[in-house]
Amino acid sequence: DAEAIRSILSRAPVVPVIVLDEVEKARPLAEALVAGGLPVLEVTLRTPNAFAVIEEMKKVDGAIVGSGTARTGEHLKRSADLGCEFVVSPGAPPRLLEAAEHASVPLLPGIGTPTEAMQAAEFGYSFLKFFPAEALGGAPVLKAFASPLPDITFCPTGGISAANAEAYLSLKNVICVGGSWVMPADAIAAGDFDQVRALASEAAKLKR
Ligand code: 3PG
Repeated sequence: DAEAIRSILSRAPVVPVIVLDEVEKARPLAEALVAGGLPVLEVTLRTPNAFAVIEEMKKVDGAIVGSGTARTGEHLKRSADLGCEFVVSPGAPPRLLEAAEHASVPLLPGIGTPTEAMQAAEFGYSFLKFFPAEALGGAPVLKAFASPLPDITFCPTGGISAANAEAYLSLKNVICVGGSWVMPADAIAAGDFDQVRALASEAAKLKR
């Protein structure tokens, strides 16, 4: 429900969006992100081992693990069964929102337009992902949403980095941002989790 999502998204200004297939890197990566001050972890269901990555990350003290890229009721159910604390979707198709009404895990659906936001609001959602944020026009678009859609709060994701995160976080209708910039692919490949921790710690200091 909305309160569960609000409480999770309030934990840190940035939600790392994780695309990882190497299960052995899941724990050190989650440890680095949590130690850096980013405890809310979105693990995308885009790799064959995503569910195993979620199971490993859940073992890390302080980690609040959810799934991302959820598109179906089956994704919701498997995420809930694994103990995910939240689920994120790139979109908000009615069948997914209907499935979420019966799921035991809260959903953060994605939208890109006012109509989609209004459709999700009809299902009771007041927290939505704005995706893909930069490609859709970035912070000025969300700023323009605030006045006609004052009761909806967003987590923008897609193309966000240390350079533009503050433009979003300064908006009153943004609770946090999502992004992968704290986990550069070369750092993950090299197992350089100190670099991840340093980037997470910078991101955790961003003001909202
Ligand atoms: C995604 O779903 O890939 C997220 O939006 C992350 O986007 P980013 O890699 O551009 O931060």
